[in-house]
Amino acid sequence: MTDTAEAGATVRAAKPVTRPARPFFSSGPCAKPPGWSADKLAIEVLGRSHRSKLGKTRLQYCIDLMRKVLQLPDTHRIGIVPGSDTGAFEMAMWTMLGARPVTTLAWESFGEGWVTDAVKQLKLDPTVVRADYGRLPDLNQVDWTNDVLFTWNGTTSGVRVPNDEWIPADRQGLSFADATSGVFAYDIPWDKIDVATFSWQKVLGGEGGHGVLILGPRAVERLQSYTPAWPLPKLFRLMSKGALADGIFKGETINTPSMLAVEDAIFALEWAEGLGGLNGLIARSDANAAALDRIVAERHWLGHLAEDPAIRSKTSVCLTVKGADADFIKRFAGLLEKEGAAYDIAGYRDAPPGLRIWCGATVDTADIEALGPWLDWAFEETSRS
Ligand SMILES: Cc1ncc(COP(=O)(O)O)c(C=O)c1O
Repeated sequence: MTDTAEAGATVRAAKPVTRPARPFFSSGPCAKPPGWSADKLAIEVLGRSHRSKLGKTRLQYCIDLMRKVLQLPDTHRIGIVPGSDTGAFEMAMWTMLGARPVTTLAWESFGEGWVTDAVKQLKLDPTVVRADYGRLPDLNQVDWTNDVLFTWNGTTSGVRVPNDEWIPADRQGLSFADATSGVFAYDIPWDKIDVATFSWQKVLGGEGGHGVLILGPRAVERLQSYTPAWPLPKLFRLMSKGALADGIFKGETINTPSMLAVEDAIFALEWAEGLGGLNGLIARSDANAAALDRIVAERHWLGHLAEDPAIRSKTSVCLTVKGADADFIKRFAGLLEKEGAAYDIAGYRDAPPGLRIWCGATVDTADIEALGPWLDWAFEETSRS
């Protein structure tokens, strides 16, 4: 704390002078890449058909860039689908589940959302394995004769899976990873992943609206050999006339995409390539998370919701604030927003009251560092009021 007592009076800490240059710390949609501006996007394709030669070329280019930056092996397909990450993950659930027993793992609200889908909508009677916010369940207990659904990085609890060792190479079931706040921030072991999904709005700082669906060979085999009992809306159909709709993985989207969102994703991916690709993105995220960790370590009133560093997110970092309830956090975050010092840092509505500070690659480390004194100031101001 920065109070000093002078002649019996308490002197209020001065407001910090330096604001983060880009105070965008939202966990989705996340900060745009440094240097981004709308007028830097290629717009030749706008107003043209997405099925024109140009449209398809840009969609294919976006897919190629994603493959390259993700270091996705040729064994895996990657396509652009509707409905952001939710659309991509539900598409996978609806098209592939039901063939064998299902286990759903949940340690925060999005994983819990997939539990709800499996239980209440698909009525699959899954085995549900849960952990409280800030923790992981015992992953070694997972029964891999089942299809297994999990979130690589729990955006609302700041908990990630520590590695892939708990996913056996000879699994019978399929692994379904909601990896929306994990891709481009961690090295994903693609041979352990049968299905992965994400949206551009997270680590790339792109737009929502579209999801990205990644399918390994065993997922494709499932699609080709199994037809679910329930009806599938057109938006979810990955099979056409008995065969995989392979065009989806070559830029022939199911329905009309936003080419503006595609161009925006291309901008972010080219920026990523300029950093050296995946390793460059990971290095930025790691540096941000380390800078925030230093801030936390220096303050007795701040802590990590995920106490174990091995499972702590390097993107959506969730913090506890001593003595804070939901109202305190609202006022705290509101003050910083009003000051233009930090936007969108209140924790997720279903999470325990606290802060959530995005440390993905599009955030600059200097901005995380500049945030520290502002957190002190807001804590003091909020505690007084
Ligand atoms: C882990 C996770 N899953 C799913 C979603 C939903 O993503 P979208 O809104 O892109 O569909 C989010 C969004 O924050 C998320 O963090």
